[in-house]
Amino acid sequence: MLSYSSSILIALAAVLVPCHALSKCPGISGLPGIPGRDGLKGLSDSLAAKRHNALANLKHRLFQLESVLALNGEIRKVGEKIFASNGKKADFASALQSCEEVGGTLAAPRNEEENKAIMDIVKQHNQYAYLGIRKGETSGQFKYINGMPLNYSNWHQHEPNSKGREKCVEMYTDGTWNDKKCNMYRLTICQL
Ligand SMILES: *[C@@H]1O[C@H](CO)[C@@H](O)[C@H](O)[C@H]1NC(C)=O
Repeated sequence: MLSYSSSILIALAAVLVPCHALSKCPGISGLPGIPGRDGLKGLSDSLAAKRHNALANLKHRLFQLESVLALNGEIRKVGEKIFASNGKKADFASALQSCEEVGGTLAAPRNEEENKAIMDIVKQHNQYAYLGIRKGETSGQFKYINGMPLNYSNWHQHEPNSKGREKCVEMYTDGTWNDKKCNMYRLTICQL
């Protein structure tokens, strides 16, 4: 006499074997948790859908958080870039370090729109800020922190005036730039 569970196994085998033999499994309707091949595909489809929803929710939540921060004037967004200040004054090296500690770097405007976003922060704090730009040791050319040459600049009239010791760059409250010594105390503005 067969036990109850043995009969279930045999019944299952009877359904599953021809299914494999036909290499086309319709799934076993009415038996959740015992999917055929289409059933497994259905399972991964619904996982993909769940993941898609979770990502959409995260994006929406991030968008809301960024909007609140922007609303409060804590950040300025330009495209994918975020500019923000900790409100602290520091020399160039310390300012750069503060930005790198949060996974960013010192703000360096790459076009007029970014320059304006950074200027807004400079104005908000009424403090000149160091930019993520410095004079190359050998070339004497101003470059981004990563060593790439500038493709945008907004020098103040008669600047840079190339005094040898002025290897850093500060932004004035009108958004124009001035070469400056690196050991002054200037507002820290980061880009992320
Ligand atoms: C300079 O290059 C950057 C990065 O490729 C770009 O985002 C920016 O718009 C460029 N600026 C100008 C003035 O073309």
